[in-house]
Order: sequence, then C-alpha cells, then structure tokens
Amino acid sequence: MTGAFDTRAFRDACGGFATGVCVITTSTPDGQVVGITANSFASISLDPPLVMWSPAKSSRRHDVFAEAAHFAIHVLSSDQRAVADGFVREANAFTALDWHRSDNGTPLIDGCVTRFECDRYASHDAGDHTIILGQVTDFATAPNAPLVFAGGRYAGLGQP
Ligand SMILES: Cc1cc2nc3c(=O)[nH]c(=O)nc-3n(C[C@H](O)[C@H](O)[C@H](O)COP(=O)(O)O)c2cc1C
Repeated sequence: MTGAFDTRAFRDACGGFATGVCVITTSTPDGQVVGITANSFASISLDPPLVMWSPAKSSRRHDVFAEAAHFAIHVLSSDQRAVADGFVREANAFTALDWHRSDNGTPLIDGCVTRFECDRYASHDAGDHTIILGQVTDFATAPNAPLVFAGGRYAGLGQP
C-alpha cells in the first residue's frame, strides 16, 4: 500500500460486511429517554452473557451512552426502517412508537426481532469510538424478519 490511508475507501470496505440494525436506548440521570441507531452490535460471551456496541466519540449522544449504567439493545425488524431513520436523525424519536420503561427506567421499544436489557459491564477506548460491553440481564425475541444493512443500504433477507 502506498500513499495516505484512504479512510473513505476503508469505510466502504467495512460496509461490505452485512449487519443487522439496532436501536440502543437508555435513560439520562434526569429521566430523559435517549436512543441511537447502530449496526456495531456483536454478541461476545455466553458465560457471562455479554454483548457489545460502539458509539462514535463524535456523536452528541456518545457521553450519555458511555456513562449509562443500564441500556437496551433492540434488533430491528424489516418493517422498522422508519424507526432506524428516526434514531439516526435524533435521540428522542420515541413519538409514535409503542414503548414503555423497564423497572430501572430504560425505554423498551416493541415490535423488534430481539431486545436485550443490559447492565454496563465494561467500556474500552477504541480510536474514534468507545466499545461498550453490556451484561444481558433479560431478553425477549419475536419471530420477525430482521432489517439488514450492507453497502450503505437497508435490505431485507428475502424469502427463504
Ligand atoms: C445503519 C446505521 C448504523 C449506524 N451505526 C452507528 C454505530 O454503531 N455507532 C454510532 O455512533 N453511530 C452509528 N450510526 C450513526 C447514528 O445513528 C447517528 O446518526 C449519529 O450518532 C448522529 O450523530 P449525533 O448523535 O451527533 O446526532 C449509524 C447510522 C446508520 C444509518
């Protein structure tokens, strides 16, 4: 490889890895509900049950998630494209959604494929992102088809 590292080409190359699409939610110390669309989710450990995601340090929402003791990860279904778009644009895109708070105040959105309720387990500095590991305290699943993101576009899995 010669010349400066091509960050844009690297980003596009990473986009070749097809992912699901998640919305991460939490509640601020003063009780405001916050969400963000993310595809950096990964399952990490079965014992203890750990999952991760990574907020960008450039995001205005980074600090509230980096400091959150509890959060929920919602794996979106193929008919929740508008939910994804809403939480790309703004942290408070809960209007018109069916949601409620968990016992610890975390907002939980309905209609997803999977919903993981997490306690913060660890966080790690990772370049221009922070890796946040959550220990799963509860989860729920539904037989919905997942929303897929690859090559900068949303897709469905199609019929088997
Ligand atoms: C498919 C998709 C996946 C995304 N994944 C992440 C992610 O993993 N981490 C992140 O910080 N932002 C991610 N974003 C961007 C955020 O949803 C949001 O647009 C960004 O935080 C906006 O910055 P703000 O918080 O300053 O408004 C993703 C956006 C899209 C469309």
